[in-house]
Amino acid sequence: MNSPTVKSLLKENANSQMVFIKGWVKTFRANRFISLNDGSCSENIQCVVDFENTDEKILSKINTGASIKIEGLLKESLGKGQKTEIKVTKIEILGECDVDSYPIQPKKHSLEFLRDNAHLRVRTNTFSSIMRIRSNLSFAIHKYFKEKGFFYVNTPIITGSDAEGAGEMFKVTTLDINKSSLDKDQKVNYNEDFFGKETNLTVSGQLEAESLAMGLGKVYTFGPTFRAENSNTSRHLAEFWMIEPEMAFYDLNDNMKLAEEFIKSVIKDLINECKEDLDFLNQRLIDEDKSKPMIERNELSLIERLNFVVNNDFKKITYSEAFEILKNSKPNKKKRFKFPILEWGVDLQSEHERFLVEKHFKKPVIIYNYPAKIKAFYMRMNEDGKTVKAMDILFPGIGEIVGGSQREERLDVLKSRIKDLNIEEKELWWYLDLRKYGTVKHSGFGLGLERLILFATGMSNIRDVIPFPRTPKSAEF
Ligand code: 4AD
Ligand code: MG
Repeated sequence: MNSPTVKSLLKENANSQMVFIKGWVKTFRANRFISLNDGSCSENIQCVVDFENTDEKILSKINTGASIKIEGLLKESLGKGQKTEIKVTKIEILGECDVDSYPIQPKKHSLEFLRDNAHLRVRTNTFSSIMRIRSNLSFAIHKYFKEKGFFYVNTPIITGSDAEGAGEMFKVTTLDINKSSLDKDQKVNYNEDFFGKETNLTVSGQLEAESLAMGLGKVYTFGPTFRAENSNTSRHLAEFWMIEPEMAFYDLNDNMKLAEEFIKSVIKDLINECKEDLDFLNQRLIDEDKSKPMIERNELSLIERLNFVVNNDFKKITYSEAFEILKNSKPNKKKRFKFPILEWGVDLQSEHERFLVEKHFKKPVIIYNYPAKIKAFYMRMNEDGKTVKAMDILFPGIGEIVGGSQREERLDVLKSRIKDLNIEEKELWWYLDLRKYGTVKHSGFGLGLERLILFATGMSNIRDVIPFPRTPKSAEF
């Protein structure tokens, strides 16, 4: 028999039928009312205890955090706030909870405090809602690509190549770091290492995804990604999840169109599937806003923001257009940017991206055709010889949520880019082979799952949208 859940019981017609339910006690009031949650939804079910006929030993163990099994009659509730409740006939204590030391008390905790207790924080309403939304988004992503005829592929986590050429990689080795294994040139002798060569945790599955797209047509990866960048910000994780579609025969325009449609589709799915959790987080933000000064408050509520993204076109501009807007902007002229916009070719910092998205256009923005020198080696060179067919999607409150490009499919151009950037050509022999054997125009992009969840939940720190965050100096749990 399937165990019923709080979610299913709350939907049932109550006519005094016998039910049972297992979960964790949220609160126990007046020796009579247990609020029970089992993670199936944000709502609790109220269980009314006949305390006069219940063993005192059991009553004393019904504490916040304890796990219990309840049997009873499902009835229409007389109390306010819930439609149904359980009139308890039997209680079994499954796991006691030491109420004095239990960190998750029935009161408001700071997000910092909950981060230190990440192993227990999913028992709060906020974190269980976030995790259900995370799960739903992941399924919506798979659903979208399946319906569009993409194949889900798995690319290696351990790799010998640096896909982004940024060198921000975690080494993978079985060499004993306490024993030096230097060769005669005082270099580490990777011949002695497990794979007989230098290997890292992957920063992107793109290069391998390109290989698979050159036979399967349309593919996507969805996996963990690792970056040892020392940016201790609220937008960066050392371990995050990335979705990387790669499509043969797509140019940059097709790529941008797909990325926009994809994001809109998964957010629309979320609005339909996770109404309760979104309502809860929406209210959370409204309450939080009340304690902020007027100018810091959100113009739109969380749900309004989600609907706004679904119902409005993203603004598409070239890097050069973005550069002009920024150069002539008030904050640039008044020297309020930390990184002033002076010369064409500068990389855009998050202060610039936020200005464009939040102040200037007030909607998601796609910037494309970036200067070649600030982008990766694999991007398709434009006819001007200065810009590449790259695109970034920028979101309000988040900054970059997607990075992608049309790929350089011409062997000679790719080789000369690799040379210009001092990348070891021989490491990329197989990648170059793809340009030798039936090369085609192709494109793809990467969406950071946690950045999407930040947007979908209205949370402001990326550490709060992944169960166990990995960041500089922090790998607890
Ligand atoms: O722009 P990025 O570096 O692009 C790539 O890795 C390409 N290979 C993708 C492709 O074309 N297949 O990263 C893509 C996205 C970013 O836009 C951002 O959303 C996310 O990955 N991201 C991070 N998310 C959390 N923490 C980090 N340290 C991140 N770095 C990138
Ligand atoms: Mg990027």
